[in-house]
Amino acid sequence: MMIEARGLVRTFKTRGGVVQAVQGVDLEVGEGEIVGFLGPNGAGKTTTMRMLATLIAPTSGSATVAGCDLAKDPVGVRRRIGYVAQSGSTLPEAVAGDEVVDHARLYGVRKAKAVADGQRLFGELDLDGLWRRQCKTLSGGQRRRLDIVMGLIHEPKLIFLDEPTTGLDPQARANLWEHIRCLRERGATIFLTTHYLDEADALCDRILVIDHGRIVGAGTPEALKQQVSGDGVRLSLHDPAQGPAVAKIVQELDGAVAIETDTDGVNFRIPRGGAVLPSLLRQIDAQGIELDGVEVHRPTLDDVFLTMTGRSLRDGVPAEPELPKEAVA
Ligand SMILES: Nc1ncnc2c1ncn2[C@@H]1O[C@H](COP(=O)(O)OP(=O)(O)O)[C@@H](O)[C@H]1O
Ligand SMILES: [Mg+2]
Repeated sequence: MMIEARGLVRTFKTRGGVVQAVQGVDLEVGEGEIVGFLGPNGAGKTTTMRMLATLIAPTSGSATVAGCDLAKDPVGVRRRIGYVAQSGSTLPEAVAGDEVVDHARLYGVRKAKAVADGQRLFGELDLDGLWRRQCKTLSGGQRRRLDIVMGLIHEPKLIFLDEPTTGLDPQARANLWEHIRCLRERGATIFLTTHYLDEADALCDRILVIDHGRIVGAGTPEALKQQVSGDGVRLSLHDPAQGPAVAKIVQELDGAVAIETDTDGVNFRIPRGGAVLPSLLRQIDAQGIELDGVEVHRPTLDDVFLTMTGRSLRDGVPAEPELPKEAVA
């Protein structure tokens, strides 16, 4: 096991009272895995990661990280991990390449090797030509990729990435996913946080879903999706007033659950959605009800989150990335 945590708790005392940021998290990350910590803003992802990376002490609980006990040997943990903070960590006035080399030397990497590896990573992360640039002149996306270089330069076996792709454009995101997969192929273990469902789905071998400081689900993306019963079906109504009549027909179907009527349609879940549709549509037609559309979709990770928490993960996240876009360059 690369990470084994038991009963991690962290509370913060604020003027407004005590914040229970993390409320008893158990988690395991195996060697060579890419594990994603998925949850909405404020769920406790960063706080958990900061505890595991020795940056803040747990209020209670214990963990072994990269073979070292978090409480007894935090220096050992620190030496074996890379950590890329959500907010980044480069100084605005510093020169990008110098930051990377200084960081590597803190970990005992020789200067010549740090320069060579740093420049190679600059190439791999699309930062060519920016080695001598001041950090403050880089775009948000470039700074984010520089943060990642800093987290990788000393070749850690375990890498913590806190929202690594927030603020990156789609192409830079895809590039970073590819890079993270390459790191794993070279033997690294990656623990990352994200509030992007597609990122968790595409990149992670295993996902831990966290909400309100507690893990509410864990498994491979496929296994998590299989826990959600059936396909999602949406019937769009031509006349919204007929919602209750359609809902009544749906209620009669074997296995239909989560039936909800909204302003212009009826949603529900049912096993093998495609197979039940023909007879359902005939019944609706027989009552003279006109539909504008029908959609069937396989369960998504958002459905998983909805099933586990009663809320959609999409509702709880900002529509705009927190960092400036590439265009700021
Ligand atoms: N230093 C702090 N002082 C007070 N409250 C904090 C602090 N850090 C985090 N919190 C609170 O703890 C909760 C979890 O935050 P965080 O771990 O940053 O969530 P996430 O990374 O999932 O968005 C939030 O309610 C946040 O406001
Ligand atoms: Mg966070």
